Amino acid sequence: MYFIGIDLGTSSVKVLVTNDKNEIVGDASKEYPVSYPQEKWAEQDPLDWWNGTKEAIKEVVNKCHIAKDAIRAISFSGQMHGLVALNEENEVLLPAILWCDNRTEEECEDITNYFGQEKLSEYTGNKALAGFTAPKILWVKKNLPDIFKRIKHIMLPKDYISFKLTGAYATDVSDASGMLLLDVKNRTWSKEMLEYLNIDEAILPKMHESYEVCGKVTASVLEELGLEGDILVIAGAGDQAAGAVGTGTVSEGIVSITLGTSGVVFAAHEHYAYDKANRLHAFCHANGKYHSMGVMLSAASCLKWWVDDIQKGMGFEALLEEAIQLESEDNNLVFLPYLMGERTPYADPDAKGAFVGMTMMTKRGHMTKAVLEGVSFGLKDSVEILKDINVPINEVRIIGGGSRSLLWKQILADMLGMPIQEINTNQGGALGAAILGAVGAGHFSNVEEGCQAMIKVTNKVEPNLDKKEYYEKKYQKFQRLYEALKRWYKS
Ligand code: XUL
Repeated sequence: MYFIGIDLGTSSVKVLVTNDKNEIVGDASKEYPVSYPQEKWAEQDPLDWWNGTKEAIKEVVNKCHIAKDAIRAISFSGQMHGLVALNEENEVLLPAILWCDNRTEEECEDITNYFGQEKLSEYTGNKALAGFTAPKILWVKKNLPDIFKRIKHIMLPKDYISFKLTGAYATDVSDASGMLLLDVKNRTWSKEMLEYLNIDEAILPKMHESYEVCGKVTASVLEELGLEGDILVIAGAGDQAAGAVGTGTVSEGIVSITLGTSGVVFAAHEHYAYDKANRLHAFCHANGKYHSMGVMLSAASCLKWWVDDIQKGMGFEALLEEAIQLESEDNNLVFLPYLMGERTPYADPDAKGAFVGMTMMTKRGHMTKAVLEGVSFGLKDSVEILKDINVPINEVRIIGGGSRSLLWKQILADMLGMPIQEINTNQGGALGAAILGAVGAGHFSNVEEGCQAMIKVTNKVEPNLDKKEYYEKKYQKFQRLYEALKRWYKS
């Protein structure tokens, strides 16, 4: 018996297969393009996702010699926030407007001015951010009124794949949390938001928990894929919640840090908790509970920029080696990691990066180390807000490309004053999706059991407590710098 996890990303779709012995059997990926038709716009053709998904399923089934009738369930991890709109005939009405599309600044202001931040937060748990779905719907309403009138179905990217597989319009609470249309606390559509946008609940997909069955693969799709039998389709989750399932971040007290292109601090908790200033996202989790999340727009990409663009030709290893040589040396050099603006904690698209505090003694190794420290301070910002809203933090796990650097993990451990755990897998969202599929099919009785069976802590990087004071002082400087430099950002 096999379970398929489909990770519908921005640059590619990855299809991962697990089996009922709780092993990863194999995977296949297909890439597709993103188009940037105007400044701040980012779009994709949902049919590219669908074609890529079908090809990747066929490839992995073939490659892993999976019998035609041996797949029990399929589930998803999806790029979040994107707007997919279909007409009466279920045809895509306009290119999907993606999570990284920033055309809706004005609509975010409209929404915030209409409700006031406090009420908006009461209704949706969050603030209006340009990437979220509701401002995009408002943008279509204002700018493409004829298309708006023809919208019969609105859904998120992964839900389009689920629709193509089953013919059912379904979504899940974790992904829907990023639409600004969900009453996150009560896990239902917000009637205030629907009323404001003047949209009927009937055009929205049916709400499910992430591990619930939302349909079966239709006979025509089975034929197209060369498969047989009853394949259950399980609602799945937004990529961050699915990724958290893929790291075992499903019990209160566990926090995961993703040190990828962007940086994410993700905390699982039992009950709804939110930050009054809405610096963190307050979302439903894929295990039936809740999570809080801080997102840094540039994390490992700051190091990539420093290595590939600024220190061309040197390479990661040589540059990191210089920084390792200076590991024990304290200094006053601070790097601000806002190379693409920042989401958490400032929600400021105009924020910029900076090195502050150089002297004649500053060497390149100090600057490389400052980049690692600056990104880590940015992650610490989210951890500090979690503490502010009383979310318990007992364990911190790390994943993502940046977690390959021991120096970076050590800096984070020292800065947070906590051990940083490594786990046995780096499959993230695709594995999380396969686990959700296996829960939906009854192979595991709940998400926590699935995580216990498949995810193990393999190593811990212990904090050097002698560094605590140094990092406390430097963190205060780091925080003051954003405020001090803010007035230059817009000019
Ligand atoms: C989450 C977020 C990203 C996107 C793209 O809020 O914006 O995780 O889903 O991966």
